[in-house]
Amino acid sequence: MKPHTLCAVYFSATGTTRTIVTAIVRRLAEQFNTPVKIFDITLPEARKEPLSFTPGELVLLGVPVYAGRVPNLLLPYVSSLQGNNAMGIPLVLYGNRSFDDALMELRNTMENSGFHTVAAGAFIGEHSFSRTLAAGRPDSSDQAIANGFADQIASKISALTDFQSLSPVSVPGNNPVGPYFRPAGRDGGHIDIRRVRPLTGDSCNDCKWCANHCPMGAIDFDNVREVPGICIKCNACVKGCPVDAKYFADPDYLFHRDDIVTRYQSPRKEPAYFL
Ligand SMILES: Cc1cc2nc3c(=O)[nH]c(=O)nc-3n(C[C@H](O)[C@H](O)[C@H](O)COP(=O)(O)O)c2cc1C
Repeated sequence: MKPHTLCAVYFSATGTTRTIVTAIVRRLAEQFNTPVKIFDITLPEARKEPLSFTPGELVLLGVPVYAGRVPNLLLPYVSSLQGNNAMGIPLVLYGNRSFDDALMELRNTMENSGFHTVAAGAFIGEHSFSRTLAAGRPDSSDQAIANGFADQIASKISALTDFQSLSPVSVPGNNPVGPYFRPAGRDGGHIDIRRVRPLTGDSCNDCKWCANHCPMGAIDFDNVREVPGICIKCNACVKGCPVDAKYFADPDYLFHRDDIVTRYQSPRKEPAYFL
């Protein structure tokens, strides 16, 4: 069989999830000669309406791994997607630590929402907190693996006659999923970075890039130094600011960032996919 439309749905604060999801969907579009629809759900306005799909569609859904799981504030929206028997492919991007139960959680969420999951993948992206942990990933090697994965998805789907009776794709992880990963502090206990907010340096020229690109809509448009909303530490503002004005200074956050860079810089993890 052949899908009549390919749909790429992704949340991507710093662009790594977007890179992999769009690479796979473009390759699939070449294989199937099928149109593509892109749904970028990174910004709050894009998540106002639930998305609904149809049985002839193949939906790639990509999210970053936060604390070993699907980002918790994104989960209600992801759960609201309506599969209506469309085929689905859950994809997660993680920063070279671990994807823990995120792929399992995303697969289960898609299955519960009426998708038939036919494949799944976990890829590596530069860690949101750092410019050195998994720096520059996904790189050309990751992209080549993404293309190979897409080719295998196309072969699998082409050979299918009835996907409705397929079992959900098998993925690693606890089922039911385990607790969120908790960052460790200096004294070995756990730290809580939920209240941490980015600061703004003197180079800020009030261009509003940060306010316009914050996935939580948390930054005050009139005074971009104020962050009255919820900050998920996605680092969209830090990595995206055109004049590098945004930064974090909280000692616990910085300790955690440096700690994971030290612990997880090597070995290099490789993408894993499941069909
Ligand atoms: C709050 C938060 C928690 C994260 N937790 C993990 C994690 O548990 N494991 C991991 O390997 N990477 C973790 N990351 C890194 C991201 O999963 C990774 O950098 C991803 O590629 C970012 O995707 P994006 O570029 O589409 O935003 C975390 C990032 C953030 C912001």
